[in-house]
Amino acid sequence: MQLVKHYWFISFMSFVVLGLITMVNAREIHAPNFLTRGMDPEKNGMAFTNRKVPVDEMEATYWQNQAYSELRQRLKRQPNLNTAKNIILFLGDGMPLTSVAAARIHKGQRDGFLGEEQVLSFEKFPYSGLSRTYCTNAQVADSACTSTAYLCGVKTNTLTLGVNAKVNYNNCTESSNPNNHLTSLYGWAQAAGKSTGFVTTTSLTHASPSGGYAHVANRFWECDADVLDHGVDPETCVDIAQQLVTTAPGKKLDVLMGGGMGKFLPNSITDAFGNKGERLDGRNLLTRWQNANPKGKIVNNREQLLRVNISQVSNIMGIFQSKLMKYRLEANDEQPTLAEMTGIALAFLSQNTNGYFVFIEGGLIDIANHENKAHIALDEILEFNKAIQLARDMTDPNETLIVVTADHGHPLSIAGYPERGNNILGLNNMGGDSDGIPYATLNYAVGPQQYQYEDGMRMDLTGQMSSAEFVAPSYIKQDIGVHGGEDVGVYASGPYEHLFRGVMQQNLIPHMMAYASCIGNGAKKCDPAKS
Ligand SMILES: *[C@@H]1O[C@H](CO)[C@@H](O)[C@H](O)[C@H]1NC(C)=O
Ligand SMILES: *[C@@H]1O[C@H](CO)[C@@H](O)[C@H](O)[C@H]1NC(C)=O
Ligand SMILES: *[C@@H]1O[C@H](CO)[C@@H](O)[C@H](O)[C@H]1NC(C)=O
Ligand SMILES: [Zn+2]
Repeated sequence: MQLVKHYWFISFMSFVVLGLITMVNAREIHAPNFLTRGMDPEKNGMAFTNRKVPVDEMEATYWQNQAYSELRQRLKRQPNLNTAKNIILFLGDGMPLTSVAAARIHKGQRDGFLGEEQVLSFEKFPYSGLSRTYCTNAQVADSACTSTAYLCGVKTNTLTLGVNAKVNYNNCTESSNPNNHLTSLYGWAQAAGKSTGFVTTTSLTHASPSGGYAHVANRFWECDADVLDHGVDPETCVDIAQQLVTTAPGKKLDVLMGGGMGKFLPNSITDAFGNKGERLDGRNLLTRWQNANPKGKIVNNREQLLRVNISQVSNIMGIFQSKLMKYRLEANDEQPTLAEMTGIALAFLSQNTNGYFVFIEGGLIDIANHENKAHIALDEILEFNKAIQLARDMTDPNETLIVVTADHGHPLSIAGYPERGNNILGLNNMGGDSDGIPYATLNYAVGPQQYQYEDGMRMDLTGQMSSAEFVAPSYIKQDIGVHGGEDVGVYASGPYEHLFRGVMQQNLIPHMMAYASCIGNGAKKCDPAKS
């Protein structure tokens, strides 16, 4: 007994001693690195003077007064318990929090400020939270399953739209089963007598807007030719463009704006931009839409859009490119901006005394992030920012709920210790990599350009980053960048804004919007008989 007891004691003690030795060793190994490389400002490249600090920011009272003023505002805030007559969902496609921070700095620097202190329109909204973006079968989401989550309120499988997770990718049988179909904010608002619509900078049949009106097992079934390309019979499995024009809630939408004209026209017809239609079935869906809406107006450029007399038309369909719309930095005057489309959509929809629901997407943020074109991605966020500012200015927070969010992130980082006011689109000005080569502040995990020599040495990009087209460096080589799986921001202003806080599942968002507006399942709140 004694011996056994001792044995245990001795082994226990040797574990303790070993553990201590390991800890001490670890300290010896890590401490010098940590001190010389991590913390020494001169060796690591951190700002160690206040040469860029604005004079007023050197006074403690500057920060204290700013904080007290913000605190007072927060204490004064009363819950807005009005019913939302109008609801607007703004979606920044592929807009991670890093890109929101970078966009706010870019905006400030473009306007002649240091940048970091700036605030975007939606960052002034009183409530914000985080949205968890994973999908039922994917750790990192695409824009289809996320659209289904934030428009229909149900998480589903990646690449599928408007159907539940019983439907597998590209399975026509499963997606044709009406039991697998979901309803959405568009339909809920229509049932309540509200006007509905969407605006996007991608195409009318792109994943983000269509999660609310299409039911498909494949987001790429945009026209019949695409369905065929995926080995499925388009007569059995109806493409997204056709669903938009022929079935509810798509055919009841009052406003549709974006690109993607080719998906609606037969290949025997040339579209407004000189390109052939993409359809093989001979259907002209624009004629069909016009016949169904004799007082509806189809417009194909900025001037036609701005000329629409909103009190004289029943519907507006704006199609401004054959495929995706162009980046703002690369577009000509023929293409309306997101803010212009937003302004006309809101003016038109607000004529309905029952109110409206509209979905507005900055869709090219994602496309630019896929290309690792950080400058363009930030510019598209600022276009999105302008549209949101306009929407808040045009509406009354007492009756219009605006929610801003993203569908998923991109693996973008803001790296190093660049100095205050350093060009966010340039090199970290405070130091280089372990070979002393300067590196860009904005980097992606995956993308086409590593800027490395064969021996692994990184290229010096000094003077090479000024073009808006510059492709930011990435760590892993792939022709095109990928999405990221982190949480994205949710920002709310208007009735029941206080619900949009904390960490939430993405599919909660439309249910809260419906509740605020007494539509869909949220109608129960406003019906005394049911509450
Ligand atoms: C589609 O799903 C059905 C029902 O789950 C299944 O029987 C069928 O094999 C699937 N089709 C394809 C092409 O995978
Ligand atoms: C729009 O139409 C209304 C009549 O429906 C007319 O009174 C108004 O002047 C028109 N507006 C413009 C800018 O033409
Ligand atoms: C909103 O409603 C509050 C309380 O009913 C009122 O004090 C405020 O003036 C209203 N704001 C606007 C812009 O109408
Ligand atoms: Zn994407």
